[in-house]
Amino acid sequence: MSTADRLVTLERHIIEGERNHPGATGEFSSLLHGLSLAAKLIWREVTKAGLVNILGKTDRMNISGDVVKKLDVFADETIYRAMDHLGHLCVMASEENEDLLHIPSHYPNGKYVLLYDPLDGSSNIDANATIGTIFSVYRRVSQEGPGTMADILQSGNQQVAAGYVLFGSSMMFVYTTGHGVHGFTLDPSVGEFLLSHENIRIPPKGTIYSVNEGNTNRWSAGMQRYVRWLKEEDAATGRPYSSRYIGSMVADVHRTMLYGGIYCYPGDTKNPRGKLRLMYENNPLAYVIEEAGGACSTGETRMLDLVPKSLHERYPMFIGSVEDVRIATEFVTGKRT
Ligand code: AHG
Ligand code: MN
Ligand code: MN
Repeated sequence: MSTADRLVTLERHIIEGERNHPGATGEFSSLLHGLSLAAKLIWREVTKAGLVNILGKTDRMNISGDVVKKLDVFADETIYRAMDHLGHLCVMASEENEDLLHIPSHYPNGKYVLLYDPLDGSSNIDANATIGTIFSVYRRVSQEGPGTMADILQSGNQQVAAGYVLFGSSMMFVYTTGHGVHGFTLDPSVGEFLLSHENIRIPPKGTIYSVNEGNTNRWSAGMQRYVRWLKEEDAATGRPYSSRYIGSMVADVHRTMLYGGIYCYPGDTKNPRGKLRLMYENNPLAYVIEEAGGACSTGETRMLDLVPKSLHERYPMFIGSVEDVRIATEFVTGKRT
């Protein structure tokens, strides 16, 4: 039966996935359900973003000032509130908060840990371009009680689930629990996420690259040579590649996963470790892309093998089709000139 013949909600998909794991308690379903509820609440606000000035003038909405910042904060608090009481988490961490987010003492602590970027690409909000929420789930390593920094600072290869929500022309929920990558599109008329992209596979090589080329003069010589190479004429390798850059890495990586190619945020003279945050951006998307058959590297090492040292550290990122990531790393490490 094809996807079109089967009505598979996100909830059904998670429950059916859990049935394949003897001993599963259903906690995971509940956790992902909490995230999907937060996503819908954020979407409700995101769709109003362009109306704020109009409605604000008539005082019908109690919103004023910096809309972008408001939505960031709103998304941050909404996820925390949707997840703090379920009893599945022992600690959370968000890109918007310097320190760990503990579970309120009147709620039980659970065995999982949640990290999230509440709103990625927030500079795009005013232009009505795609933005998203990124999440990453680990099993705790401490025994009991409130979670600790050790629970948070785990290598990406320890993730038990990761994914993202895209607020684009439609809203999508994309996730993996280590059994492929699955995408769901919200049917707004019933408020349910329906399976629309089953078992997404990234092509082994693409013909699109995605990078902020305004930074060219700050890049290493190897990075500059790589992008020059992408633009050379060579039909056999699909060059010149096309250039696409939204400026929301979650949306740029999503497109890269569907069409193939590469997304890069390299280090440069101003930001030697690039801009993206390992725990909230690089690792969850690295897990998703590897599950879809792709690769993610710092340029030197597999992203998921890094051992994080602090909550908000940054790493250069090369993510996408296996072949494209391989070629990029050859250029940036100087193996290819
Ligand atoms: P955030 O909105 O969560 O702060 O992240 C923005 C990130 C990422 O989404 C995007 O790809 C990148 O910043 C864009 O950076 P440049 O403007 O330097 O290209
Ligand atoms: Mn971000
Ligand atoms: Mn953000």
